[in-house]
Amino acid sequence: MVLRNMMLFLSTVILHFGLSLATERPIIGIVTEEVSSKAQVDARSMIAASYVKAVEQAGARAVPIFINKTASYYRHILDAINGVVLPGGAVSFNSSGGYADVGRIIMEYTKEVNSNGDIFPVLGVCLGFELLLYLEVESYSILDNCNSSNVALPLVFKNKYQRSKLYYRAPTEVIEILSTLPVTYNQHRKCVTEQLLAQHNLTDTWHVLTTSYDVNRKEFISSIEHRGLPVAGIQFHPEKNAFEWNPTERIVHSHKAVVSARHFYDWLVGEARKNNHYFKNPTKETEALIYNYSPTFVDKGAGYFEQVYYFQ
Ligand SMILES: *[C@@H]1O[C@H](CO)[C@@H](O)[C@H](O)[C@H]1NC(C)=O
Ligand SMILES: *[C@@H]1O[C@H](CO)[C@@H](O)[C@H](O)[C@H]1NC(C)=O
Ligand SMILES: *[C@@H]1O[C@H](CO)[C@@H](O)[C@H](O)[C@H]1NC(C)=O
Ligand SMILES: *[C@@H]1O[C@H](CO)[C@@H](O)[C@H](O)[C@H]1NC(C)=O
Repeated sequence: MVLRNMMLFLSTVILHFGLSLATERPIIGIVTEEVSSKAQVDARSMIAASYVKAVEQAGARAVPIFINKTASYYRHILDAINGVVLPGGAVSFNSSGGYADVGRIIMEYTKEVNSNGDIFPVLGVCLGFELLLYLEVESYSILDNCNSSNVALPLVFKNKYQRSKLYYRAPTEVIEILSTLPVTYNQHRKCVTEQLLAQHNLTDTWHVLTTSYDVNRKEFISSIEHRGLPVAGIQFHPEKNAFEWNPTERIVHSHKAVVSARHFYDWLVGEARKNNHYFKNPTKETEALIYNYSPTFVDKGAGYFEQVYYFQ
């Protein structure tokens, strides 16, 4: 028992300081979401391929996490993967069995395993960022209106961001780009302000790392992390700089924009390497991987994405 506790202690120390990694074959789950009726496709759920590419670029493989499945499905898949992306989109949080319900299951799982000494990261992007905070209060009252549709913005770094999980290892060059150049791509009409976070008594739980200003100079939270869990939310879309090319979207494709955007998925995958979840059955791993599906090249007129995975 003493030896076991010692080993646990040592492995926690090692994980914490990143001296050793639990896996070098990380697999990231990407939550699917309901398909907009506007898309006019016969599919139950979808993932924009840019999320898959961003995860792959950071050194991981991707698996889709489907909506509307059983509790046992989620338990099995979460026990086998190393972290999760809650992607952006435009779906309601109160559709039964949908995107938000899956997000809730994932956050409950993350809290459970992290309290047992596991490190299981979650990155919420845009709608996923909003979902992380919505789930804290189970109400849309956490969201305000912003006008940040189709704008690239710089980040305003807050006190103590250097001590955050999300930014403490960010290269100086990345912080300089993000804070001085409008490179983060925003596409949202909802936002969370520091006032709303405080009104909902969430400042002890969440650390605001950056804000940005919408087109009307309204300040909103652009990145945040949970104080106890390896969970971060970003209101902007770093997967778009390198991988989305719709010319009507003001996505910055410069070298600096692409380099700084990589930081966020690198962070997720870096945290994901710290747990040793894996598919106990290699056939199940093979069957789960995104490589079993082919993305569809989407006509520019129909959407925001170059390629989309549609799932039956
Ligand atoms: C979801 O909740 C919001 C806010 O309570 C409400 O306005 C909306 O009608 C609900 N949508 C559905 C599909 O239930
Ligand atoms: C979940 O599945 C049921 C039964 O097939 C379906 O009626 C419902 O629309 C689905 N919900 C979502 C969010 O996909
Ligand atoms: C948002 O801002 C853009 C650019 O200033 C403007 O064209 C648009 O009408 C605004 N939308 C809303 C809902 O305020
Ligand atoms: C926040 O905390 C204060 C003081 O404890 C309490 O009065 C208030 O109801 C809380 N607000 C929410 C939204 O929980």
